[in-house]
Amino acid sequence: MNSKFNRRNWLKSSSLLATGLFAGIPAIAGKRNPQISIPEFEFLSEHELTRKELKDLPPLKARLLSNENAFGPSEKAKQAIIDAINDSFMYPRDAREEFTQLIAEKEGVSPDQVILGAGSTELLMAASLYYGLKGGKIISGDPSYMSLVRMSGSYGADWDKVPLTSDYKLDLEEMEKRVSDDTSLVYICNPNNPTGTSLDTEKLKDFCKTVSKKKPVFVDEAYIDYAGGIEAKGMGSLLKEGYDVIIARTFSKAHAFAGLRIGYCIALPETIENIKKYSTRGGTTSATSLCGAIASFQDDEYMKYTVAKNAEAKEYTYGFLKDLGYDYIPSDTSFILFPIPMEGEKFRQKMLEQGIGIKVWEFDNQHWCRVSMHKIEKLKIFEAALRELPG
Ligand SMILES: Cc1ncc(COP(=O)(O)O)c(C=O)c1O
Repeated sequence: MNSKFNRRNWLKSSSLLATGLFAGIPAIAGKRNPQISIPEFEFLSEHELTRKELKDLPPLKARLLSNENAFGPSEKAKQAIIDAINDSFMYPRDAREEFTQLIAEKEGVSPDQVILGAGSTELLMAASLYYGLKGGKIISGDPSYMSLVRMSGSYGADWDKVPLTSDYKLDLEEMEKRVSDDTSLVYICNPNNPTGTSLDTEKLKDFCKTVSKKKPVFVDEAYIDYAGGIEAKGMGSLLKEGYDVIIARTFSKAHAFAGLRIGYCIALPETIENIKKYSTRGGTTSATSLCGAIASFQDDEYMKYTVAKNAEAKEYTYGFLKDLGYDYIPSDTSFILFPIPMEGEKFRQKMLEQGIGIKVWEFDNQHWCRVSMHKIEKLKIFEAALRELPG
């Protein structure tokens, strides 16, 4: 029996086939198992790790763990950063204002509906302070991106976790049912991290319209550029109609600014005022990064290019996963989640030994690997390591 055959057998005998995930086909019925355990470590973004944790990370040959974009930043952004250096002895008030105006224009909101941050984590934190200090519960998917929920926990709010649907999407119906007087915020990550799935745009709009009349809805659109873009898929247009939604965007993903640290939120003016009380009001953003972001945001050609490169990387990864008998969840993001036939931590260690960084999860009675997209040569290192695993 070769290893491919073994893996296929393993998949067949796992709960995956029974729930219909095989070949990416949604399950016919039934909810996911609510027994979910995610190691505390997995809640953290890389920039939230302590120095000790960082020191323990070995040098990596293939860094496929933080959903960074190896295809950027755009040439225009790089040039704008270089051009900004001479004047960067000054606080970047003008660049902040220009970027705020540009965002407002692109999003169809007024500048007082925009707040900037050095990455969206800063704004997730400000929101978690404002809403977390209210106490009560933050409703979000499980598994989903945890920064806001985890930080809110430190300030007094509990996590009301809602298992995903059988096709590994956020369960909007159940989330809506859970909204009560005790809810302080509903957090939606669309597309969802770590599953890579996105929601039907009209369904999400309807959800936001209904739920935000009762409680604010925070929509984290970190990966929206990979899922069809802000205009087609984003929820920002709801603000014009007065709905209490908060939309978070980061430049760390498609714009490839993870190291440059740029993010923003748009919301109703009064919501922005409330969140601002707990933030630096954009004061942590640097002149260079702001000028780079202004250029990148207007560089449509670059966006097309980087999204296409990411799609190529995904196709390549789907190809070798299929070839090796692994299943996967089709992704609308820059990472792919797939079930693995061994305990997650063991798998992570095996990959680390070969200089490959990935992340692992455990949910739905299953261990999972999340692999970030990268240049094909880096994905080939991961492919080779997978091929060497005993079947
Ligand atoms: C869903 C989601 N939101 C927010 C962030 C934070 O991004 P940053 O702080 O780099 O803007 C990430 C980073 O991985 C993410 O996956």
